[in-house]
Amino acid sequence: MDKLLIHGGRRLQGDVRISGAKNAALPILCAGLLVPGTLELSNVPQLQDVGTTLKLLERMGVKSTRDVAAGTVTLDGSSVTSTEAAYDLVKTMRASILVLGPLVARFGEARVSLPGGCAIGQRPVDQHIKGLQALGARIDIEHGYVIARASRLRGTKIVTDMVTVTGTENLMMAATLAEGETVIENAAREPEVVDLANALIALGARIRGAGTDRIVIEGVDALHGGAHRVMSDRIETGTFLCAVAAAGGDLRLTHCEPDTLDATLDKLREAGLRIECGPDWIRGTMDGRPKSVNVRTAPYPGFATDMQAQMMAVNCVADGTGVITETIFENRFMHVQEMRRLGAEIDTEGTTAVVRGKRGLSGAIVMATDLRASAGLVIAGLVADGDTLVDRVYHLDRGYDRMERKLAAVGASIERVRTVDDA
Ligand code: EPU
Repeated sequence: MDKLLIHGGRRLQGDVRISGAKNAALPILCAGLLVPGTLELSNVPQLQDVGTTLKLLERMGVKSTRDVAAGTVTLDGSSVTSTEAAYDLVKTMRASILVLGPLVARFGEARVSLPGGCAIGQRPVDQHIKGLQALGARIDIEHGYVIARASRLRGTKIVTDMVTVTGTENLMMAATLAEGETVIENAAREPEVVDLANALIALGARIRGAGTDRIVIEGVDALHGGAHRVMSDRIETGTFLCAVAAAGGDLRLTHCEPDTLDATLDKLREAGLRIECGPDWIRGTMDGRPKSVNVRTAPYPGFATDMQAQMMAVNCVADGTGVITETIFENRFMHVQEMRRLGAEIDTEGTTAVVRGKRGLSGAIVMATDLRASAGLVIAGLVADGDTLVDRVYHLDRGYDRMERKLAAVGASIERVRTVDDA
């Protein structure tokens, strides 16, 4: 199992090229199932989750050609032979549920394993199911699988009980091929939803309102082939900004989309990071110690839950006390115990964490528990005195494109240690 060995205390200096967004790439890849032709994608990040999604699609008969170095993927969904997503892959990646809407919309049937438990919260998929039922699908849960059937979905009005990102995406994809108009109210406004809508529009879908809480989809009989460039990863961008805010230095992030990061940029400015933005770059400069900030996660355009652990790492070494409230997932403080192992002073009460900043942390062996927790621990390791060994790096590899190489290139002392599995 790979680990990351970090020798803390180095400032970060230089340029980092931001990759395509994981949470846009995954739904857009699943949209390949809607098309009896080719979907040509560029700016696809090099991630474990992209590989898992391609494997899932290939098992259904979607042909894929990938040039990893160029970041391109071409999918051909003209000869889909199976409408099943099996447990062995779904359990490793919850985003697999995103095949449900496209499969039932195009083929009239889908058999998709329920994802099961998750480290950060219960994460049910009831809203995906409720929405598909509203669109006329018959849903049965059998042997751990969601089975959806419909001769053709029918457009309708759907009001989701809460804002759900993949729920909105699944229903938007399903509605592209439904008969008539579908309105999704209380839709997620995340930029990744907009990127998916743009990809679907390039394939012939009729969608308006993506990026607002009311998305209107006019169903069409079929989609056609097309091309799309995946948006840049706002969470990767925010993660590198937190890294420079905590470790100090001067980073210029290129190929990014500053407009998608308002809440993160506001908080980091408040923490003392000097920020300059161009159309597709952000420069973050930090001298001295950050100031503590209070953070409350919220659906977009609020502060992203996917940035919470990284901002906590900044607060751990900041001047003052910061209160972090997690409102999206009920168990997304798994990194707290590990940050304490590095000497951080954090008290939690339910979904609130009070972080008393300290001048320094001290390196230790820590365990990554989920993707963003891992990123938070890497940032803490960059600041800690001595060596930090981050175990279970596979979580990080799922969603960050060669993070340690990008950090090493801007001056961090960080290396991947490959060990024989000691389980
Ligand atoms: N929820 C339900 N029922 C549903 C759907 C959601 O109760 O049917 C609840 C969830 O349990 C959660 C809240 O609604 O409490 C919001 O969850 P949401 O559905 O928005 O999350 P998601 O779509 O499963 C995506 C991202 C996550 C990100 C969240 C929130 C993808 C592939 N995943 O998950 O990304 O944290 O939105 O922004 O887009 C990550 O990248 O590390 C990650 C976990």
